[in-house]
Amino acid sequence: MLDQYSRNIDYIRISVTDRCNLRCVYCMPQTCKTYLGQEELLTYDEIVKLAGIYRSLGIKNVKLTGGEPLVREHVDELIFRLKEECGMEKVTLTTNGILLEQQLDGLVKAGLDGVNISLDTLNPEHYNSLTGGCHVDRNPSDGNLEAVLRGMRKAQKQAGISVKVNCVLMHQTREELLALAELAKDGVNVRFIELMPIGQGKEKHTLKEAEVKHILSETYGTIRPCEEKLGSGPAHYRKIDGFEGKIGFISAISHKFCSGCNRVRMTADGFLKPCLQYETGMDLRTLLRDGVSDAELKAQIETIITQKPKCHHFGEMNEPEQTEHRGMSEIGG
Ligand code: GTP
Ligand code: 5AD
Ligand code: SF4
Repeated sequence: MLDQYSRNIDYIRISVTDRCNLRCVYCMPQTCKTYLGQEELLTYDEIVKLAGIYRSLGIKNVKLTGGEPLVREHVDELIFRLKEECGMEKVTLTTNGILLEQQLDGLVKAGLDGVNISLDTLNPEHYNSLTGGCHVDRNPSDGNLEAVLRGMRKAQKQAGISVKVNCVLMHQTREELLALAELAKDGVNVRFIELMPIGQGKEKHTLKEAEVKHILSETYGTIRPCEEKLGSGPAHYRKIDGFEGKIGFISAISHKFCSGCNRVRMTADGFLKPCLQYETGMDLRTLLRDGVSDAELKAQIETIITQKPKCHHFGEMNEPEQTEHRGMSEIGG
């Protein structure tokens, strides 16, 4: 369906949990965090019911997110139902990759169309310090770079699923960007993401797209524009000669992409958010559990989508009113 600015909303990011087995410095508080209780999460039946309504409004692609989606049990069942019962065309997943190797077969069998793996460095020490935190509810074995790489390689070998790496840009990993870009030699698409000032990402200074392009072109020469669009998200892509995969950029700060925004988000507790930056939206879980009719749910969802804000104001001097106070892991990225 179209929003008030005639943007076609056909993509929804559905978070299935606010929990995560890592603690990336820009995402999760490093100390103990309070999570949603089991009864606060939408059940898979509830997600499927709402997804059916989204589908009837023209939303055809779903990204499952978290926290870390694979820490919730039986995500494969949800994928299967989103495709078979709701008729979603593409269901993809953004994961930190720790549990990917062990769950991949089931996910692909259920109909998963693609996986994005969050990986900010290939240096094991830096990986541990960036993802580790110093909290009590994480097992030492959780932050296992090797497991992520095994999951990535296994996914690459699966016919028909797209594999992308998401690297959030930070000064600490400046020297490691080339090594990450090299993953694209073998066909993985590597995307560099400008850090957004949300939750723990506030107050952290970071590299921008132009600087990364400069670093890449110093080593590889011209990086050519590439018109091909991969996936449903805001990335734009470039080609490096001799690399099978593409290099993408998601640059919310230096290239606002809101005029082409095609998406809304639903948190793990069923709050429909029309834009990442604002806390406005609708508590669909309460409506659902109060037993409102499907027609009423649909009308409420349409209202929220229609009123989607024009754009974000990241990086501007004053934060807009109703700025989101929740962190990325609670929103779903
Ligand atoms: P595909 O390209 O279709 O695989 O999806 P995607 O890029 O939307 O998904 P992914 O979960 O990999 O997100 C990559 C980055 O894009 C994350 O940092 C997201 O927070 C960011 N992102 C996705 N949608 C939006 C958006 O609407 N606004 C902003 N500012 N950032 C977004
Ligand atoms: N800015 C940009 N990207 C972020 N992510 C998490 N926090 C931020 C932030 N503040 C990324 C994760 C993951 C995706 C869902 O969002 O690294 O790849
Ligand atoms: Fe977990 Fe992803 Fe947040 Fe890292 S960015 S702490 S992997 S939810």
